[in-house]
This record gives sequence, structure tokens and C-alpha cells, in this order.
Amino acid sequence: MALRVNIWQRSRLVLLFVLTIALLGLGFSPPAKAQAQGDLSLLGPALPTNFLGEDQSPNPTEINLGRELYYDKRLSKNQDISCNSCHQLNHYGVDNRPVSPGHKGQLGARNSPSVYNAAAHIAQFWDGRAADVEEQALGPILNPVEMAMPSQEAVLAVLNSIPEYVDAFKQAFPTESNPVTYANVGKAIGAFERGLVTPSPFDAYFAGDESALTSQQQRGLSLFVENGCVACHNGTYFGGNSYQKVGLVEPWPNQKDPGRYNVTEQAFDRMTFKVPSLRNVAETAPYFHDGSAKTLDEAVRRMAHYQLGKDLEPDQVEDIAAFLEALTGDLPADYIQPPTLPVSTAMTPEPDPT
Ligand code: HEC
Ligand code: HEC
Repeated sequence: MALRVNIWQRSRLVLLFVLTIALLGLGFSPPAKAQAQGDLSLLGPALPTNFLGEDQSPNPTEINLGRELYYDKRLSKNQDISCNSCHQLNHYGVDNRPVSPGHKGQLGARNSPSVYNAAAHIAQFWDGRAADVEEQALGPILNPVEMAMPSQEAVLAVLNSIPEYVDAFKQAFPTESNPVTYANVGKAIGAFERGLVTPSPFDAYFAGDESALTSQQQRGLSLFVENGCVACHNGTYFGGNSYQKVGLVEPWPNQKDPGRYNVTEQAFDRMTFKVPSLRNVAETAPYFHDGSAKTLDEAVRRMAHYQLGKDLEPDQVEDIAAFLEALTGDLPADYIQPPTLPVSTAMTPEPDPT
């Protein structure tokens, strides 16, 4: 019951927020400078340099191990798929497909979100069913339509057959007597993911460099705020910090996936999803949990219509999309460099195409 009250309060708060902002937008246009400052108050704080929690201090070996595991196809049943197959680090952490092929080409039901900046979200997956990146990383390895490993033991058999991996686990987790565990696979991958940060022109603008955004992008930022996008896409990541109903004002056309309802089984969570972060969104088409919008313009138009009940003019859509391009960040080229993987031995299991 307490949960229900909170959720109602939260969605009422959002509606109030949208309404206030929409009213402020009506017939009221403050000078550019004041407007920009109002905008920024719902955004930020500044982007951190990594997403490590206060109690987290992975040693460099753990991060290197996480990078190797992230790129290692031997963690999949047919040894042909790694995390990087669907979340390509040199492609903004996505594969640009509506849904991704996994084991034997089977397609999943949802669009692959980016792994960049994901560690900072309130929870992982479109429906928030994993608490953090460490927990999340353990899902796809055993998911029959993704990497399809039959069991945790099968994953550990691969790792234990490769002496370089056994050594790396020992160095990464020096206080543990048996460090090659499934949980430590998640910890190492998570430690690596907590370094996937992408500082963008918007961050320079936020820090005071007004020239970091073009005038069109600054117009787009104002429209983004005035129209109420910022009610859901706010904070440092322009999202990633709440669950909201898709189709808040107009019913969303595709009602097949009930979203967070699968996790909570509460009626009011039907069609709610984690609000995606809009960082790097210009590079991560197609859009939405079902990959149903091919272009950024279409995604912006649909959001305005279904979430806010507004049909934007084409030039407004273009300005907002131009602003969203200012959230495209620099990829950490050295950090994501594919490592030379530890070599298999005669003990390493063979790929299983079945
Ligand atoms: C076959 C494609 C595929 C593979 C392989 C895969 N993922 Fe994913 N990943 C997805 C999809 C699809 C989702 C969204 C699923 C959902 O929300 O139900 C997702 C979600 C995530 C998220 C959540 C991001 C967010 O914004 O909520 C993270 C982090 C992630 N994957 C990391 C990984 C890691 C680490 C691996 C390797 C251990 C991996 N993925 C392997 C397709 C894949
Ligand atoms: C009431 C909350 C809410 C409002 C207001 C809102 N959004 Fe969204 N936005 C969401 C949710 C929830 C999703 C994920 C929906 C899904 O995938 O089913 C989303 C998804 C998106 C996406 C796709 C991101 C991706 O990675 O697939 C874009 C782009 C976007 N929103 C932009 C905007 C813009 C621009 C506005 C203002 C015109 C806006 N949103 C208003 C909640 C909101």
C-alpha cells in the first residue's frame, strides 16, 4: 500500500511539473541568458569521471579483467557472442538494430540500450529488474536467446580452463580463497562498465562555455525545457532516474510489452519503463523499448505527441534533435581498446552450436 501511495504521488508530481513548465512556456519568453539558467537548474549536477560508489575501489586488474570478459565470446554457448556484440563500445554501446540477434540468431524482445553511462541509472534494463551493472551482467550470459550458457558451472568451467584467467581473478580479488566465481564475473564486468563515461559538448556548456552549443542547439534546449521533456528527462543523464508511463497522454500504439508490470505485477506499472538517458541518443537509433522509431526526429515527434499531447512544428523537432546531438560524447578510446584475450587450452570446452 505504501508503495502505491508513493507511486501515485510521484506521477502526480510529474504531471504538476509538466503543467507548470508548459504554463511557463506560454507567452513567456525571458531573455536568452535567464532562460538558459532556468534550463540548467533541472539538469546536472556535472558529469562525474566514473560511476564508482564510495565503497567501490576496484584495482586495475579487476577493471582489466572486466574488459576482457566484456569482449570474450567464449562466455557464450557457441563462443560467437560477447557483450560487445550487442553493446558495441566503438558504436556508442549499441548495435543500431531494432532488436538484437543472440544465440543461433534468435531475436530478443527489446531494443539494446547503451552501456555508456548506464552504471549511473537508478536500476538496469528497460524495466529496472536488475539493481546495478554488477547484477545485470550476470543475466545475458545465461539468457537462452542471448549468450545461452547452460549454467553458471559451465561459465566457470571455461574460465578455470584458462590459467591466465584464473591468475587474473586471483589478482583482482586477492582476499578471496576461491575467486573464480560467477558473482565475481559480474563484479569485474561492472567495475569496467563504471568507467564508461562520455563527456559531451553539453557538459562544456553546463560548465559555462556558451559557445559549446550552436544557436540552434540552444533553441532546442529551450524547447526541450519549455515543452516539458525535462519533466522526465532531467538530471545529469537526461533520464535514467525514474520510471514513467509510455503513452502518458495518448495511448502508446504498441501495448505488447507491459514494461515494469512484469517486475512488480502492480496494475499501475503497466506500460511504465525506465526513462532512458538521452546521452548519445543521436547515435543510438532505432529508438524505444521496441526499436519502433527509426530516426531521432520521429522519436522526438512521438514523445511530444504521446507523452505531452503536443504536435510540434517540423522546425521545433529539428531544433530539439539538434540539441540532443550536443549530448553525443567523446568515447574513451584507450579505455575501450579491445584487449588481447587469454588463450584457450586443451581443457577449454568446444563451441556448442545447438
Ligand atoms: C544478444 C544481445 C545482447 C547481449 C549479448 C548482451 N546484451 Fe545487454 N542488453 C541487451 C538488451 C536487449 C537489453 C535490454 C533488455 C531489457 O531491458 O529487458 C540489454 C540491457 C543491458 C544493460 C542495461 C542498460 C540500461 O540502460 O538499462 C546493460 C548494462 C547491459 N545490457 C550490459 C550487458 C553486458 C555486460 C553483457 C555481457 C555480459 C550484455 N549486456 C550482453 C542485449 C544484449
Ligand atoms: C512523462 C515522461 C516523459 C516525457 C514528458 C518525455 N519522455 Fe521521452 N521517454 C520517456 C520514456 C518512459 C521513454 C521510453 C519509452 C519506451 O521506450 O517505451 C522515453 C524515450 C525517449 C526517447 C528514446 C530514447 C531511446 O534511447 O530509445 C527519446 C529520444 C525521448 N524520449 C525524447 C523526449 C523528448 C524530446 C521529449 C519532449 C518532447 C520527451 N522525451 C518527453 C518518458 C518521457
